[in-house]
Amino acid sequence: MSENQKKPIKITETILRDAHQSLIATRMTTEQMLPIVDKMDQVGYHSVECWGGATFDASLRFLKEDPWDRLRKFRDGFKKTKLQMLFRGQNILGYRPYADDVVEYFVQKSVANGIDIIRIFDCLNDLRNLQTAVTAANKEKGHAQVALSYTLGDAYTLEYWTDIAKRIEDMGANSICIKDMAGLLLPYQATELIGALKEAVDLPIQLHTHYTSGVASMTYMKAVEAGVDVIDTAMSPFALGTSQPATEVMVETFKGTPYDTGFDQSLLAEIADYFRPIRDDALETGLLNPKNLGVNIKTLLYQVPGGMLSNLTSQLKEQHAEDKYYEVLEEVPRVRKDLGECPLVTPSSQIVGTQAVFNVLTGERYKMVTKETKDVLSGKYGQTVKPFDPEVQKKCIGDTKPVTCRYADLIPDELETLEKEIEIYKEQDEDVLTYALFPQVAKEFFQYREAQKKKVDASVADGENGAYPV
Ligand code: CO
Repeated sequence: MSENQKKPIKITETILRDAHQSLIATRMTTEQMLPIVDKMDQVGYHSVECWGGATFDASLRFLKEDPWDRLRKFRDGFKKTKLQMLFRGQNILGYRPYADDVVEYFVQKSVANGIDIIRIFDCLNDLRNLQTAVTAANKEKGHAQVALSYTLGDAYTLEYWTDIAKRIEDMGANSICIKDMAGLLLPYQATELIGALKEAVDLPIQLHTHYTSGVASMTYMKAVEAGVDVIDTAMSPFALGTSQPATEVMVETFKGTPYDTGFDQSLLAEIADYFRPIRDDALETGLLNPKNLGVNIKTLLYQVPGGMLSNLTSQLKEQHAEDKYYEVLEEVPRVRKDLGECPLVTPSSQIVGTQAVFNVLTGERYKMVTKETKDVLSGKYGQTVKPFDPEVQKKCIGDTKPVTCRYADLIPDELETLEKEIEIYKEQDEDVLTYALFPQVAKEFFQYREAQKKKVDASVADGENGAYPV
């Protein structure tokens, strides 16, 4: 490519979502993020990923924050940058399939509150689980990006990926993302994959990967040379390890080439200066585990995403069975195979991981079976690329006839019932969606919200300074 054939690489910044989800368990607060929004808005990012994924759950559960309120504050602050979210197809931001009316309403409210780009994926790459969300995004004039959950295995050939990409294009998506949650895509494979996808479809292609296995920045370089349109990076204080390659490094790498982003490094440096003390604090308190910052080559061996590794460690710790770590890690690919060789991404990663723990700790495979494993084997999460192991299926669900249609077709509309259930707590339309996703956590949050308000009201009545709620 010559200088006059410029194709600046576009960048999605992940520090407000995936980066802190991957490194510090999604604990960055809105208050910590807002002061830097104005500067971030000046960079020229293609988009800022700032919502969805685990941020919704973590805001409610651990930070006692309303995730909708966070989104509205981002929208106020980012005047010209597109806001992006991550959406789990029919599972929305939760862990089970929802009725279409909830999916549609969630998309509608996400766009209404400020989201521009919705990245939609399905943990099994069953496209039937994406259609409702894609159609809803189109209807709301949002950008519907469909993500392929990238994984390895016999079934996952170039033909598989290009075929799925063509079907995504036909579905009405606006762009395609390769979502490599475990950092498995190697540089030269990226050349092949991006090349094949660019040939197969006309949609822009974005690449999302993690540094877990240490190859990510090389993979980006090869992907960019092969024509990828957008890459996901994180500002350096929350980059590398289980997070993304560093924004500043990728910007510098492509400087003076046809892919030059044109970003101002001194502005990026100011933004990095802002986040660095937050990182230092997290290291000091242990929230940021230095283990997550190194290269974990086992991720290539076991193909397990970083977040799943830390889940397994904590599950085993609870059971006082940390010595079983490697046994469980070796059981993970076997369970994955039994379950149709599915990608490992929320929620399939949790389902496979927990089942692997049970299989090892009970000393007999599938002696104890979780409800979610049964649901997968009953076809409720959708169709897998390979058939389930028939013996395992029989042992877990007996003679129950598995679902072969799109499971959501069997779920009656849920919104009306949900509305009735939370009537007494409702303060805004969006509350019903919060409740739909995490009923117990949402109720506790609504009660907390009410109590906070009463406290403020009381202090105002007492003549205290009500502007500073405790
Ligand atoms: Co990610």
